[in-house]
Amino acid sequence: MYGNDFIDPDEPLNAAEFGDVDDAVAAAATTAAQRAEGGSSFEALLAADQRIEPRDEMPEAYRKTLIRQIAQHAHSEIIGMQPEGNWISRAPSLRRKAILMAKVQDEAGHGLYLYAAAETLGVDRAELLDLLHSGKQKYSSIFNYPTLTWADNGAIGWLVDGAAIMNQVPLCRCSYGPYARAMIRVCKEESFHQRQGFEILWTLSRGTAAQKDMAQDAANRWWWPALMMFGPPDTGDAATTGGHTAQSMAWGIKRFSNDDLRQKFVDMTVPQAAKLGLTLPDPDLRFNEETGHWDFGAIDWSELWRVLKGDGACNAERIERRVGAHHEGAWVREAANAYAARHDLGQQQEYVA
Ligand code: 3HC
Repeated sequence: MYGNDFIDPDEPLNAAEFGDVDDAVAAAATTAAQRAEGGSSFEALLAADQRIEPRDEMPEAYRKTLIRQIAQHAHSEIIGMQPEGNWISRAPSLRRKAILMAKVQDEAGHGLYLYAAAETLGVDRAELLDLLHSGKQKYSSIFNYPTLTWADNGAIGWLVDGAAIMNQVPLCRCSYGPYARAMIRVCKEESFHQRQGFEILWTLSRGTAAQKDMAQDAANRWWWPALMMFGPPDTGDAATTGGHTAQSMAWGIKRFSNDDLRQKFVDMTVPQAAKLGLTLPDPDLRFNEETGHWDFGAIDWSELWRVLKGDGACNAERIERRVGAHHEGAWVREAANAYAARHDLGQQQEYVA
């Protein structure tokens, strides 16, 4: 499946390939008997590490937190189509173009699963899209950075999808059933995405000096924003004012804190950079024998806050394109609604007859 022209295809590259998704699925597997035994109040289900399902009673704050996170996640998937979509017409070969188109389509699919999961909580996706378009709901900071060269598609696959998988595999064990189940397929597809990004960089870093420079430049630009994707640190102002981690972990929505996942990502990625023959733009990166982890330099959090406030290189362009695409797609939604209405009417008439 992966070809034999880069690292051993049997060697796991990311959290999904390490078998973590299968473990998460096994851990999440629930049986009606277990549920019946333990009781089905919100607290009992959480205590038994069972999934909360749409018809179960749940605190309003839990429902709102899920809507916020799932909507932000769905928005990230569809806005995330833009940076790479920008390269479909300029991919360097037919093979690269076909792969990139499939990948961008996958992201649209992920958005659909996630909007559907959010709808099980009683919101309408049209409402959520309005909140995205009006800037009232966020999407991931990472998609406000530009894709300047072909190598950026490699860096996005390797680093951005790699970070996304690290964050999302634990969500396969999220306490809310529809979200957890949606994440299983998303993670498997993201795993392929990371492989294809790694393979782009592998090819470039073994090409001409100019191609290797392009790969290095892309890794330099995407490294720090990829670390910021995991969200603000677990300590300090960001955690105490406005941070959601402690509550979300108590509810089993998040299974690891932002810093824990960031560290896992650094530990996974540094050896991969060495295999690619690329360096990472952090002079403080060094293996700590005592902790068994890679220490890394201070993250410039002011950059994350600036990008979240709308001052990233591409914030305005991303929303403008999204709103434009939404308007251009109005006729499709109208046609689908008209078809559904006619179909419903037909069924009712059949029933009456
Ligand atoms: N970008 C934008 N906003 C971010 C952010 C980021 N990278 N990291 C944190 N934030 C926001 C939070 O939304 C929150 O703001 P709010 O109160 O207005 O909603 C605030 O910063 C505080 O952060 P917390 O860590 O307390 O917030 P959360 O508990 O929600 O954790 C998260 C943030 C880890 C991103 C979590 O929401 C999460 O795991 N979400 C699901 C995964 C996701 O959305 N990933 C986005 C990328 S998807 C993707 O990359 C697509 C793929 O194709 C590559």
